[in-house]
Amino acid sequence: MAKKNKLPNHIAIIMDGNGRWARRRGFMRVKGHEEGVNSVREITTECAKKHIGQLTLYAFSNENWKRSKTEVNFLMRMLKKFLIAERKTIEDNDIILKTIGRTEALPDDVKKELSISMKESRNNRGMILCLALNYGGRTEIIDATKKLAADVKKGTLKSKDIDDDVFKKYLYTSGMSDPDLLIRTGGEMRVSNFLLWEVSYAELWFTSVYWPEFRKKDLEEALKDYAKRERRFGGLIE
Ligand code: IPE
Ligand code: IPE
Ligand code: MG
Repeated sequence: MAKKNKLPNHIAIIMDGNGRWARRRGFMRVKGHEEGVNSVREITTECAKKHIGQLTLYAFSNENWKRSKTEVNFLMRMLKKFLIAERKTIEDNDIILKTIGRTEALPDDVKKELSISMKESRNNRGMILCLALNYGGRTEIIDATKKLAADVKKGTLKSKDIDDDVFKKYLYTSGMSDPDLLIRTGGEMRVSNFLLWEVSYAELWFTSVYWPEFRKKDLEEALKDYAKRERRFGGLIE
C-alpha cells in the first residue's frame, strides 16, 4: 500500500521557463529571471516550514554559458543580489546554504557573497538549501572520477573497494541524500544534465507551469502526487 502523507526528504527542482514566461508578456527574457526569484523565496520558505531536509535548486548549468553575454551577466548580478537580499530569509528559516557545481569559475564578487552566506548559515539547524551553480551532472561524475583515480594512484584507495557508497563520497553531493522528488517546471520533459547519478530512483514530476508562476499551490500539487507514489527501488512491496 502506498504510504499517505509522506513528504520527500530531499526535493530537487529544475527551475525552467523564465524566458518564455517573460516573452509571453512582451518583456525581455531577463525579466523572467527577476520574477523567478520570488518563486525561489516562496518555495524555499515553504519547504523549510514543512521541515523538508534538503531543497536543491538548479540555478545555472555548465551549458548556460552558451547564452548571450548580456543574459549571463544579468544572471550573475542577480545571483549576487539574491545572496545579499536573502540572508534574512536564510536566517529566519534556520536554513543552511550549500552549493554544488564548479563554483570556482563564477565571478569573484559572486564567490565572495557565496562564501559569506555559507559561513553565516553554517551553524543553522534547519533545511539545507543547495544551489546548483555552474553545475553539470557529467562534469560532476568526471570531477569525481579524477579525484578517485588520483587516490587509487596514491594508493589510498584500492580499485576493488570502489562501490556506490565509495563513489558517492567523491561527488559534489557527498554527505547529502539523493533527491526523493525531482520537479521540472516549464513543460520540458528532460533532465538537462541535472544530478545524473543522484536521481536514479527519484520520483519525477513535470509541470507546464513556468518557474516564475510556480508557487505554494503548485508545490502542494506535486507533494500530493508524491505521497501517492509507491517506491519500490527494484524490489517488491508485500
Ligand atoms: C530557467 O529559465 C533559468 C535558467 C536556465 C537560468 P530559462 O531561462 O531556461 O527559460 P526558458 O526555458 O528559456 O523559458
Ligand atoms: C536547465 O534549463 C538549467 C536550469 C534550470 C538552470 P535549460 O533551459 O538550460 O535546459 P534546456 O536547454 O531546455 O535543456
Ligand atoms: Mg530553459
